[in-house]
Amino acid sequence: MSITLLPRGTGPRPAPAPSSPAPERQSIVRVEDLVGGPPALLAEHVTKRFVVGRERRAVDAVRDVSLTVERGRIYGVLGANGSGKSTLIRLVSTLLTIDSGRVEVFGHDIERDEMAVKRCINRVSVDAAFFKKLSPYENLAFAARLYGLDAGEARREAARILGRLGIAEKRLGQPTEQLSRGMQQKVAIARALLTSPMLLLLDEPTTGLDPRSKVDVQVFIEDLRDTHRAAIVLTTHDLDEADRLCDRIAVLDGGRVVVDGTPDELKARVAAERGQPPTLESVFMTYTGRSLDEDVEEPESDEGRP
Ligand SMILES: Nc1ncnc2c1ncn2[C@@H]1O[C@H](COP(=O)(O)OP(=O)(O)O)[C@@H](O)[C@H]1O
Ligand SMILES: [Mg+2]
Repeated sequence: MSITLLPRGTGPRPAPAPSSPAPERQSIVRVEDLVGGPPALLAEHVTKRFVVGRERRAVDAVRDVSLTVERGRIYGVLGANGSGKSTLIRLVSTLLTIDSGRVEVFGHDIERDEMAVKRCINRVSVDAAFFKKLSPYENLAFAARLYGLDAGEARREAARILGRLGIAEKRLGQPTEQLSRGMQQKVAIARALLTSPMLLLLDEPTTGLDPRSKVDVQVFIEDLRDTHRAAIVLTTHDLDEADRLCDRIAVLDGGRVVVDGTPDELKARVAAERGQPPTLESVFMTYTGRSLDEDVEEPESDEGRP
């Protein structure tokens, strides 16, 4: 797979000398390419509107969202229920189309170059589905075949990933439905890793897990960033999780990014500018005007939802 380095709008481009008739060299290597190329994810002014119900009410699920995620980083998208987190993830993973704005994954435009984007990413949602009667190993083997991996290679890779997850050998053969939710979530993430995605989209990977499983999955995600050098977008409504795992955070409210930065920057900012305690709780309260547990008002009708 080749990664096309598209020219980016940022940074100075070498301007052709006006008086120089010398042939322009096509193979100019730009500094930004040498230091790592395009970001794993670049979203600019992304907007998505749903029209719901008989009265065709418009819901602006994602509004003018811009963010950049670099390789080897965990980018947290923090927001209450209904704030637009899953919609944003679905847009990036090409499950939904954007209304306006631009998204690039490793320099590939998601509309013009959808196949290349799909090859770079994988998504795990909170309600990941399995063949429940099949073992984790069989689920991974099935996924590997779908992804077109060579059988032998898939077997080795599945064993390696499941081993790293700390799933005991004897569990590998047992029906997935008999595993704890935390374990199942790890298997879901492991399955997404089979394609070695360079950008991994984790939509509330720890929601609904017991505290112990939650920590296990969190440690696993950190480990992924550090060993796999994947870029990870992680949605959560757990402030401690965001604080602990994320290199940067964007807080979503009503589909908009109301504030973003590193956890330390955000905490320092809320303390300096607003005289609030330096915690993510107060960051959230200050910039959204609500507590994280309050749900954003849901549309009355669910018509039109998949
Ligand atoms: N397929 C859809 N059709 C209509 N409305 C939707 C659809 N998906 C999400 N929404 C609405 O968009 C808003 C954001 O939802 P969502 O992205 O699921 O938020 P979150 O993941 O943060 O809970 C909500 O008001 C939700 O009801
Ligand atoms: Mg969601």
